[in-house]
Amino acid sequence: MPNRMRIAINTGGGDAPGLNAVIYAVVMAAHGRGWEVHGIQQGYAGLFDTSKITPLTPEKVAGIMSHGGTILGTTNKGDPFRRPHERPDGTIEYRDESDKLVENFKRLGFDVLIALGGDGSLSLAHRLSLKGMPVVGVPKTIDNDLAQTQSTFGFDTAVTTATECIDKLHSTASAHERIMVVEVMGRYAGWIALHSGVSGDADVILIPEIPFDMDKVCRRLGDNEIRGKRYGIVVVAEGAKVDGGLVTKANDDVGRSEVMLGGVAEWVAKEIHKRTGKETRSLVLGHLQRGGSPTTWDRLLSLRFGAAAVRFIAEGKRNVMVAWQPPEMKAVPIPDVIGRSKLVPTDSDTIQTCRDLGISFGD
Ligand code: F6P
Repeated sequence: MPNRMRIAINTGGGDAPGLNAVIYAVVMAAHGRGWEVHGIQQGYAGLFDTSKITPLTPEKVAGIMSHGGTILGTTNKGDPFRRPHERPDGTIEYRDESDKLVENFKRLGFDVLIALGGDGSLSLAHRLSLKGMPVVGVPKTIDNDLAQTQSTFGFDTAVTTATECIDKLHSTASAHERIMVVEVMGRYAGWIALHSGVSGDADVILIPEIPFDMDKVCRRLGDNEIRGKRYGIVVVAEGAKVDGGLVTKANDDVGRSEVMLGGVAEWVAKEIHKRTGKETRSLVLGHLQRGGSPTTWDRLLSLRFGAAAVRFIAEGKRNVMVAWQPPEMKAVPIPDVIGRSKLVPTDSDTIQTCRDLGISFGD
């Protein structure tokens, strides 16, 4: 291992609160070892347009730990194996330019890439590692759906924001005697809906892991009336399935491979109104859940992830992801993580707690 390591770092996919805290910890831990850290802009795109690669020093990262977003920028359209190019007739052609990327990485003298990403970005990191680019991954996503790690950073902040919003809905729902149906993020997993729903005192929580029946949802809301509570709160995960299928939005973003979820809350609200006659409104919290400062919990988790990534590099570990397996940070092979969504176990204590509290999953 060279004495003075040259580390590259990037942030890929949707942003998550805590990205800057990880970057801060990586820079400080590397600097303490006399190593260099260089920031790659816009996910993997910055390894094509290398002019914007910036050395990251303790001075450059001072004060960023508490900021949301990422100082490196990010994208979910940056697949180097499928880069879009416009043909003269306006149609799009996709080219595999991964060899060029790895060549640039080597030419710039980098030893390891620290890739902060979710399943998509880590899958790309793994494929690039097979082409000779050593990587260490850090598990980022508000969705908390990555395998092998108890939690990802960004999740706690998203849940905190969603819970605060649900708290606020109670007073307006009660004043108007309405049912409020709130859609939260989480892709194919119900973690955000479950944690914010139970903490925000919802009556019904709908998650992808538990198929729901609208009759049962309406019956549970009817129980509120019997008990003198003339309003109701339904929290629905964007990935909750209607008739076994996802509710999606049209999307023509060039270079994006993931479907865009959205609209299930509106569907649920209309069904509730149709079946109960009760005034019902839906809202989508959307990107509010990804914004703002990381909570103290996420900040600490992010700092621990970043410092552990540097320690693992110092120990010679490569092509691994830092995983929080309490009480320790472990280095797990990236193939053990990718393509294996961590879903909510339907027999978990939190699910059981909800049921004991009288919260319905519509099942
Ligand atoms: O994976 C994070 C996430 O926020 C999901 O919860 C959501 O479905 C998706 O990203 C939204 O992506 P975009 O910001 O591209 O609309």
